[in-house]
Amino acid sequence: MNITDKFSRKLRDVRISVTDRCNFRCAYCMPKEIYNSEYQFFKKNEILSFEEIIRLSKIFSSLGTKKIRLTGGEPLLRKNIHVLIKYLKEIKNISDISMTTNGVLLSEKKAMLLKESGLNRLTVSLDTLNSENFSEISGSKYSPENVLEGINNAINAGFENIKINMVVKKNVNHKDIIPLLEKFSGTGCIVRFIEFMDVGNVNLWSKNDVFSLEDILGTISKKYHIMPLEKNYSSEVAKRWSYNGGEFGVISSISNPFCGDCSRLRLTAEGKIFTCLFTNKSHDIKNLLRRSESNEIVKNYLIDMWSNRADKYSEDRVSGNNYKVIKKAEMSYIGG
Ligand code: GTP
Ligand code: 5AD
Ligand code: SF4
Ligand code: SF4
Repeated sequence: MNITDKFSRKLRDVRISVTDRCNFRCAYCMPKEIYNSEYQFFKKNEILSFEEIIRLSKIFSSLGTKKIRLTGGEPLLRKNIHVLIKYLKEIKNISDISMTTNGVLLSEKKAMLLKESGLNRLTVSLDTLNSENFSEISGSKYSPENVLEGINNAINAGFENIKINMVVKKNVNHKDIIPLLEKFSGTGCIVRFIEFMDVGNVNLWSKNDVFSLEDILGTISKKYHIMPLEKNYSSEVAKRWSYNGGEFGVISSISNPFCGDCSRLRLTAEGKIFTCLFTNKSHDIKNLLRRSESNEIVKNYLIDMWSNRADKYSEDRVSGNNYKVIKKAEMSYIGG
């Protein structure tokens, strides 16, 4: 069964946040001033268990879902995450399981466990190769070398085409675009430059801080001949270019939104569903799961929810139609 929303978009991809905690404090996601020792993260019994995630994923699969991406916070902080992956892997029709991580917990052993569990793809966030900038941006005790070591461990464990996510902020790290691109040239890793997005309420987003698709292409084409490439699949968020024998991507949610084929649903660690990264409306699936013996009830709830979906926040922001500034869910909570 393939369910569709108000704009005929299927429910193909599910992003599952497995924890709201992180060992970084990126200023654009979990600013230190707010995520400090006073901050109340979810307690163990408040977050979905592996059993609950698996039960729900089987229902998603029966509704047409093919891809699952594990996110956080930092997903590698969730104990025995490889065990969850093993079970997700057994679900009929789930053909792609991926993870977005900051990379510093990818030890040799962890990378091997993830590979053996059947994780298909890895994306690692890395915003700069400069140690000082890295401390400033990530708000962590780690260095770029720790991330590079994690990436290397993943390559050695057999992961191919690892994606490297760089969130670009004007006058913060836009000068790091070329060094990062060149660092990964010829390694098989694919760098993607992400426009700083207006997710959540705490990152003090301003349009003036956005280094746009146009700015990014301008920077790279000063040094390299670039050519646009076809999308790999219709709902891919990144636009792709070839350069110097390799490729890079740009995720331009601000200047060139991609709501038209958005087939993504988000599940938070505490069991709330969001049908858009920018909506403030959530659906409490945890309570339904915990109350309901019957998968049929949960399934019908999801069908009803998805058929009423009409989200296109980023497109509305650009057009100005239906656009209101609302209180949004935070990135580390919703999982990106
Ligand atoms: P694949 O295409 O499967 O490799 O995954 P992905 O690129 O969608 O996943 P990733 O977690 O690496 O996300 C890359 C960036 O795109 C992050 O900044 C996400 O927040 C952003 N992103 C992902 N999906 C959406 C979306 O539906 N809307 C918007 N506006 N941004 C998104
Ligand atoms: N804008 C753009 N990307 C962001 N990410 C986190 N916060 C933002 C933001 N405000 C990125 C992370 C990670 C991915 C899931 O989203 O760096 O790579
Ligand atoms: Fe953690 Fe990723 Fe948010 Fe940085 S962007 S604080 S690494 S969840
Ligand atoms: Fe999908 Fe919402 Fe992002 Fe548009 S803004 S692509 S609808 S998640």
